[in-house]
Order: sequence, then structure tokens, then C-alpha cells
Amino acid sequence: MKKGFIICLILLICIIVGVVIYFRTNNKKEDNTQNSTSKIENNNKEDKKMSNNQTYFIEDITLNSGYKMPMLGIGTYLLSDSQAENSVYWALKDGYRLIDTARIYGNETGVGRGIKKAIDEGFVTREEIFVTTKMWTSDFNNPDEAIDASLRRLGLDYIDLMILHHSQPSNDVTAYKGMERAVKTGKLRSIGLSNYYTPEDFDRLASQVDITPALLQNETHPYHQSTEMAEHLEQYDTVLESWFPLGGRGNTQVLFDDDTISRIADSHNKTSAQIILRWHLQMGYIAIPGSSNESHIAENYDIFDFELSEDEMQDLKDLDKNERFADY
Ligand SMILES: NC(=O)c1ccc[n+]([C@@H]2O[C@H](COP(=O)([O-])OP(=O)(O)OC[C@H]3O[C@@H](n4cnc5c(N)ncnc54)[C@H](OP(=O)(O)O)[C@@H]3O)[C@@H](O)[C@H]2O)c1
Repeated sequence: MKKGFIICLILLICIIVGVVIYFRTNNKKEDNTQNSTSKIENNNKEDKKMSNNQTYFIEDITLNSGYKMPMLGIGTYLLSDSQAENSVYWALKDGYRLIDTARIYGNETGVGRGIKKAIDEGFVTREEIFVTTKMWTSDFNNPDEAIDASLRRLGLDYIDLMILHHSQPSNDVTAYKGMERAVKTGKLRSIGLSNYYTPEDFDRLASQVDITPALLQNETHPYHQSTEMAEHLEQYDTVLESWFPLGGRGNTQVLFDDDTISRIADSHNKTSAQIILRWHLQMGYIAIPGSSNESHIAENYDIFDFELSEDEMQDLKDLDKNERFADY
């Protein structure tokens, strides 16, 4: 009788301990879920705060030089000095912090004026802006002068990123070494390349220089996705930047009217341009859409409130024809 009572008591204690362990484990799981949800909410709050303040909201990427670079910027190809001045000023006002120009565009002076106006009005500082310019091929034998001339035209005392405009095996290494010297003296912060379309050509230059190119700017859009090159660049920690991100002047409608792109645009209540730009960013590519139109510039910046799904990214990936619009 006494033995039976003791066994019942032990059983009862085991059941109570079991129930307590069960409830404590479940509570812990709920706590963990709550913690991760609040992390996401905190991130969103942080984003909104930054967006309202119009500071560095645009996602940025850290280059192999150690400097941060925004993923979305304003392009200025084919813009006159006064158009470039306006576009840069409007873009900075909208919150863009990356500007792309080149000595061959003939508008570095206008770009510099747009930057100065924005800084003078006090809504942005030089340190918050990332300026890229390019050394033209005919300057490759005189890189030091070319760098000084770009600095003078831009009205800046340093350039965030200078890239060689085109591959030119006869003297691009000479030009690149000039840019390396300018990194040492603080005139340039990061250096890179543009228009190197084969891994072999990229390796040719990279193997002869001391500073690994931080970036490669090539024609890239949904019909020419540069995937082979982007994969090749990974070993160098070099990022890919897309020029003609919307297909380029005169070609944009081909991409905007593409069935897949317009279907995805309708489903997100966004424009085709916004879908394409979002695709660049989700591919990990920096995009610099060019525009002289104030409302297009604002529209192109409004791509941080939605995301393309994996299926949509796959549908866009399937559009690749490995075909360029430009022949240079
Ligand atoms: N490294 C190189 O060799 C190289 C070569 C070419 C370009 N780039 C750089 O890359 C940048 C981008 O290339 P890109 O400007 O030639 O071509 P893009 O950005 O692909 O296309 C520019 C065209 O798109 C239009 N556009 C822009 N936003 C739009 C919108 N939301 N809706 C409708 N149309 C829109 C522009 O017209 P509106 O002016 O009317 O907006 C313009 O006609 C250049 O500006 C330049 O900085 C580099």
C-alpha cells in the first residue's frame, strides 16, 4: 500500500516536471520569434528615419578600396553643361549621392556647378557625395595632367572614383599607373575600369598594376546581363556598374515595352524603368540612369519601397540575350 503510494507520487512529480519543461521551451520559442520580428521593425524604422532626413538612404556598397559607394546614381552622358548642372542639382535634392560624368562628355564643369549649388544651399556636404569621372583614351599617355584637369573642371580637391574609359592595350597600364600615383597623393580615392568585356582583357590589366580595380563599368541591362564578367570579378572583389542601365537613349522603349518587364511593373504598380533599376540593385550592380528630366530623376530614385521576388528575378534573368545596344 505504502509502496503503491510512493510510485504514484513519483509519477505525479514526473508529469508536473514534464509539463513545466514543455511550457518553458515553447515560451522561449515565442521569445525568439518576437526578437527577430522586432529586429526587422527596427531596421524599417531606421530606414524611414534616414529617408525623412534625406541623408544616406540609398543602399551603398563597400569597395575593395575601403570606401563606400551608393548603388544608385545619376548619369550625365549626352547632357550639356547646363543640363548636367540641373540634373545633378535635382538628383542631389531628391537624395541621390552618386554622380557619373566623364571628361569626354564635356560637362564636368556643369556637374561641378550642380554640386556646388547643392552644397551652398546646405542640403548636402562634399563628404556625402560620391563623384565618378573617366579618363579618355587620348589622355592615357598624360594621366597626371588629365587628373588635374578633371579636378579643375569639377571644382573639387579630390575625386571619389576615376576609371579608364576604355580598354586600350597599347597604353592603358601607363594611364592606370598615373591613377595609382594620384591615389597616393589623395587626388583620387578609388580607381577602376570601363569597357573591358572579356575576363582575359580584365586580367591583362589587373595583373600589371598594384591597386586592384575597385569597379568595372560596362554596358549592362536585362538584354545584356554581364553575368560571366560579374562572376569573374568576384575573385578581385571588384564591383560591376551598369551603363545604359535602361538601354540607353533611343533604346529604352524596347526594354520598357518588353512583355515580362511591363507585366512585373503592373503587378507592383511601378514603371518599367523602376523595375529595371530595382533588378540592377538586386543583382548587386550599381546603376547610373541618365536623365535631363526632373520627374524621371525623381521616379528613378523611388525604388526602395518594394522588392522583386525570386520568381520575378528569374523571369528577368531569362530575358538575357547577351546583346549590347552600343557597338563601342
Ligand atoms: N562608360 C561608358 O562607356 C558609358 C557609356 C554610356 C553611358 N555611360 C554612363 O552611364 C549613364 C547611363 O547611361 P545612358 O544615360 O546613356 O542611358 P540610360 O540611363 O540607359 O538611358 C537614358 C535614357 O533614359 C531616359 N530615361 C531615364 N529615366 C527615365 C524614366 N524614368 N522614364 C522614361 N525614360 C527615362 C532618358 O531620357 P530623359 O532625359 O528624357 O529622362 C534617356 O533617354 C550615362 O549617363 C553615363 O553617365 C557610360
